Formats: sequence, structure tokens, C-alpha cells
Amino acid sequence: MGSLRWLRLAVNHPHTDMPLAEPTFQAVSIHPADKAGKGNRRTNWLLCLLSVEVDLEPTCLSGPAMSHSQHAAISTGDVDQIRFLYGTAWKEGQTQRLVELALQQGFRGIDTANQRKHYCEAAVGQAIAVAINSGLVTRDDLFLQTKFTFQRGQDHRLPYDPAAPIAVQVQQSFERSLEHLGTTFIDSYLLHGPTQRIGLAADDWSAWSAMEVLHDSGGVRSVGISNVSLEQLQLLCQQCRVRPRFVQNRCYAVHGWDRRVREFCRALGIIYQGFSLLTGNPDVLARPEMLKIANRHQRSVSQIVFRFAIDVGMLPLTGTSSADHMQADLAIFDFNLDTEEIQLIEKLALT
Ligand SMILES: NC(=O)c1ccc[n+]([C@@H]2O[C@H](COP(=O)([O-])OP(=O)(O)OC[C@H]3O[C@@H](n4cnc5c(N)ncnc54)[C@H](OP(=O)(O)O)[C@@H]3O)[C@@H](O)[C@H]2O)c1
Repeated sequence: MGSLRWLRLAVNHPHTDMPLAEPTFQAVSIHPADKAGKGNRRTNWLLCLLSVEVDLEPTCLSGPAMSHSQHAAISTGDVDQIRFLYGTAWKEGQTQRLVELALQQGFRGIDTANQRKHYCEAAVGQAIAVAINSGLVTRDDLFLQTKFTFQRGQDHRLPYDPAAPIAVQVQQSFERSLEHLGTTFIDSYLLHGPTQRIGLAADDWSAWSAMEVLHDSGGVRSVGISNVSLEQLQLLCQQCRVRPRFVQNRCYAVHGWDRRVREFCRALGIIYQGFSLLTGNPDVLARPEMLKIANRHQRSVSQIVFRFAIDVGMLPLTGTSSADHMQADLAIFDFNLDTEEIQLIEKLALT
């Protein structure tokens, strides 16, 4: 039996935090097992419905920038202090050295995947062990994110039995991730991507349900999804039991920096993680307008892109292999872009 609670529903503007719609009050059934009220199927449905009803389009490109202090409030709970993620893809034999370097430079959020084709999760774990054993960090200082990857995204080095049901594959992959990372829990566990471009297949739901079970058990603090379209995300949020806390997408400027997905995330309190901010947008990075903004702030164009990402509410990823770039990437929290600059960058590839 669930109990009846009042849930206050409000959608705020991503820049101003001002309400985009009058808050409404809805009676929702909260299941007793769902202590925080999150992940409740009916709650999710209502939140999703509200976000669809509110027209975010006309206002999302306008409004003043958030202040520096507001950026710290981007996130909730376990990810409170994490404002930049260090990505570990494509580093092979350099993975351990680079993750150690990133931790020394000040990164505390690490993104990896149990997908040997592109990541070396075990080497990430070795770097973490070195950093913990040397006293540089404690496990509690860190935000560790990894992913379950379906077989079609893997090579022959599978972290699970491919003949097993999907739910078992998720459990096996998760257990290997714990071993690789030398931890008893994962802060954020992502579905690396749905099996198809449109809609969600039975295997996607099986994987998500297994991830929900991991969340229930406490082995995973938050669940999320990567490489997802707005329609897939809406579907997931409508029908899931535990709602995604994170979305991790490639962020193309030509799509308004994935604006539709970002706005949906913002409306539902999902944290949007953007990757390929630099590599996905070479034309925009080369635009004279970007150079002008960079010169005005005496920063590099890369720093302007990452600062912009923060200003529009993203949690950005960088996978740089350079100590100088690591330092530069983390040195974006002592200046702000003004409203006009944010609007210009947001629309740059659309014009
Ligand atoms: N979920 C997914 O499917 C998925 C897919 C792709 C990536 N990711 C994640 O996102 C992470 C980041 O990947 P990414 O695609 O954004 O590309 P990336 O691996 O971060 O590549 C960035 C490129 O930009 C260059 N660069 C130049 N100036 C830079 C600066 N100031 N800061 C950072 N890089 C600079 C880097 O060169 P230097 O090395 O010389 O700095 C590097 O070649 C990955 O490691 C992975 O964790 C996830």
C-alpha cells in the first residue's frame, strides 16, 4: 500500500531559476519502499507530463547567467562538489598514469566504462588505489562513474557471459566494475546506450530494471543513461521505477548544444553531462566570435566552451592527456560569461 502525499511541481528556467510555470500541487502515491519519493512510477509520470506541457522553447535561449555561487548548486547529494568529470576513454596503456595525474591536478569525478574496447577500467582502479594509498584522496572524496555496455558495443573482452540473460549480464558487469575500481559501491552507473536509435527495446528495459535493483541494493548510488534521444529519455522517465539522475550525451553545437535534452533534464532535476564539447564542435571553436570572447576574458577558446557548459547547467567531461590542459580546464571557476556571451555561444552554430 502506498501513502498519499502532496508533491509540489515546478519547472524553473535554466539560467534565472525563475519558475517557467505556476507551481502546481498534485496528489501522488508514494510507495513506502521508496523512501525519498523518487523513482515512484506515478511521480515520474507526473513530472514527465508536466515537462511536456511546459513550453521551454521560447525562453531557453534568454535570461541572465547564473552567478558563480549558483553553479555550486547545480547538483544534488553525492555529486555536490563535482563540477567537472575526467573521462578515461581511449587511453590504453596511459590510463593509470593519466588518471593519477588528473587526481593530482584536482579532478575528483572520474568517468569510465566496463568496455575494454575503449576503456581500461582496471587501470582506472589502480590509479585510484595509488591516490588513496598515498593519502591524496579518500574514497569519499571521489565520484566514480562507470557503465554497462551491451555486447554490440564491446569487443571479444566481455565482462559478462553473453549467453546469460541481460539482467545477469548487468549484475556480472557491475561486480567486475567493483573489482576493477576497488570499491564497494559505484556513485553513478550508466546504461552506455540503448540498443536502438528509436524507442527502447526489451533488452533496454531489462538492463534498466537490473540497474534499478543495483540501486535498491545500495551498490549503485545513482543510475543514468548515455547516448539517448529526448524521446527515449521521456519514455524512460515515464515508465521507469528509478528515474535517471544523470544523462551523458555528445554535445553538438549544431543541435543547440543538445538543448532539447538539456531542457528536459533541467525540468526533471536530471544532471546533464556533456562530452565531445571540443572534439564535436571544431567549426564553432574556430569562429571569430569565440576568439573575441576568449580574448575579452584572456582565456583559451577551450576554457570558454567549458565555462559556457557550466553556465548553462552542464556537468562537462574532459579527457585531455595534457597536464597543462587539465590545469586550464579546472581554471574556469574564477570568471563568468555574461548573458550576451552565453546567448551568442548557445546560438552560434544555429545561425
Ligand atoms: N558515453 C559515451 O558513449 C562516451 C563517448 C565518448 C566519450 N565519453 C567520455 O567523455 C570523455 C571525454 O571525451 P571527449 O569526446 O570529450 O574528448 P576528449 O577525449 O576529452 O578529447 C579532447 C581533445 O581535445 C584536445 N584538447 C585541446 N585543448 C584541450 C583542453 N584545454 N582541454 C581538454 N582537451 C583539449 C585534447 O588534446 P590533449 O589530450 O592534448 O589535451 C583531446 O585531443 C571520454 O574520456 C569518456 O570518458 C563518453
